[in-house]
Amino acid sequence: METRSYPYAIEMRGIVKRFGPTLAGDHVDLAVRKGDVHALLGENGAGKSTLMRILYGLYHADSGEILVDGRPAVIRSPKDAIAHGIGMVTQHFALASPLTVTENIILGRTPNFRIDMDAAHAQVQAAAGRYGLEINPRAVIGDLAVGQRQRVEILKALYREARVLILDEPTAVLTPQETHQLFTELRRLQQQGLSVIFISHKLHEVMAITNRITVLRHGRVAGNVETRGTDERALAQMMVGRVTRPAVKPPAVEEGDPMLRIADLHAADAKGVPALQGVNLTVRAGEIVGLAGVSGNGQSELAHILSGTGEAGRGAVRVGEKEITHADARAVMAAGVGRIPEDRHAGVVGDLSVEQNLVLEHLDDFRRGGMLDHKRIRSHARALIDAYQIKAAPGDRIRTLSGGNMQKVILARVLERAPAVIIVAQPTRGLDIGATEYVRRKLVEQRSRGAAILLISEDLDEIMELSDRIAVIYEGRIMGELTGAEATTERLGLLMSGVAHAALGAEA
Ligand SMILES: Nc1ncnc2c1ncn2[C@@H]1O[C@H](COP(=O)(O)OP(=O)(O)O)[C@@H](O)[C@H]1O
Ligand SMILES: [Mg+2]
Repeated sequence: METRSYPYAIEMRGIVKRFGPTLAGDHVDLAVRKGDVHALLGENGAGKSTLMRILYGLYHADSGEILVDGRPAVIRSPKDAIAHGIGMVTQHFALASPLTVTENIILGRTPNFRIDMDAAHAQVQAAAGRYGLEINPRAVIGDLAVGQRQRVEILKALYREARVLILDEPTAVLTPQETHQLFTELRRLQQQGLSVIFISHKLHEVMAITNRITVLRHGRVAGNVETRGTDERALAQMMVGRVTRPAVKPPAVEEGDPMLRIADLHAADAKGVPALQGVNLTVRAGEIVGLAGVSGNGQSELAHILSGTGEAGRGAVRVGEKEITHADARAVMAAGVGRIPEDRHAGVVGDLSVEQNLVLEHLDDFRRGGMLDHKRIRSHARALIDAYQIKAAPGDRIRTLSGGNMQKVILARVLERAPAVIIVAQPTRGLDIGATEYVRRKLVEQRSRGAAILLISEDLDEIMELSDRIAVIYEGRIMGELTGAEATTERLGLLMSGVAHAALGAEA
């Protein structure tokens, strides 16, 4: 056991880190007490991962110092970090999926290749028991759910005697129930004297699990507070530098005609594995239907098919009376579908200007006698830049825009044509709070206009805030549908983990 005399497990002082023109760390100080769950809170791009990658030896600071247990430490690689008792679990797990839990945990630990597997399993089982982690040492990683894999990563770090555990957005890949279990486990580890650095941009999580919070904004420390002395509002203000406005709650509207109808749709993913296994879903005019689900349950494949960029198998997709199951992107657009894609960089041509991107999908409207009418393209861009509050000039290369402004360009391009059906995926991922609010307000406006909107999002708060109805997708099937009023995170979480709607009703 560590000596209790020195209060801090980790101190980072004056950390500076530059990536070309980006100052990802601007004299950052972070002090993590022993036995604390310490939040590193900040919006996307605030510099959280960079700071932790420096602590774990994946990046090297331009200047600044690190103290472990009060002593200066030189950390040039994860190996050094581990030797100093620092472990890190990232969103992209580094486990070998054909191997068992035990093999993964003792890999790289045992110099001797001939190991007694029974003894090794027992050892892993004992370690899991000691830390209160529910793990089957003999399970093959590939068969485990994401939450279980994460637990294996945590045990792996602890097995290497980590006293400080860095978790980079651990809940991003979890259902609410898995998150709850993770929190229970973290509290137990904390009681054993472990320090945890918990990265998140979700305020309620940070309030629920941490003792102390360091807020980063644009690579700088924007606040450093005790959790019990603060609240979500104050934290949000530190994160964005201003007070946030209340959510955009849509008013109720009458039931419209079914505009988008998906019937028994099947599809395979890039590897030929079934990704959609009979999806049935209808979206009516004037409603937002949220499609919730843990990442990788068929959402991307569905979005691609509905956008004319994927390949459907059996089943049918109709927009109004027109079938678009196997239509290409142009035909889908002509049928009245507007697409706001998950990857906004794929939604634009980076080397082209803002004004060019704004006319990309309907260039023919801007020809005069076979030639492009540049004057009209420019005035068209000026009008949209104005209407959508885009902070850019018509001639700016679109790749130089911030995520929020790029998303506004895509919104402008799509919404300008008043599509009957809008397919929108992860519309606010990576955007700051101001841009997020803007995008959500625009979607609600479109709904009021009468558009049928399918909102595919992994952000449950977003789904619950905007949707009239919520469908949950799990392993390529719709597990159930709830009205906005019925939806709670608990119910959605159960559906997201594959518990069918019928079972839900019985339990409720
Ligand atoms: N390897 C890298 N190369 C260039 N820029 C990077 C790299 N890693 C991070 N950045 C930039 O540093 C800033 C902080 O990023 P990051 O630490 O990932 O933020 P967060 O984890 O808070 O979302 C961002 O502007 C990001 O684009
Ligand atoms: Mg990050």
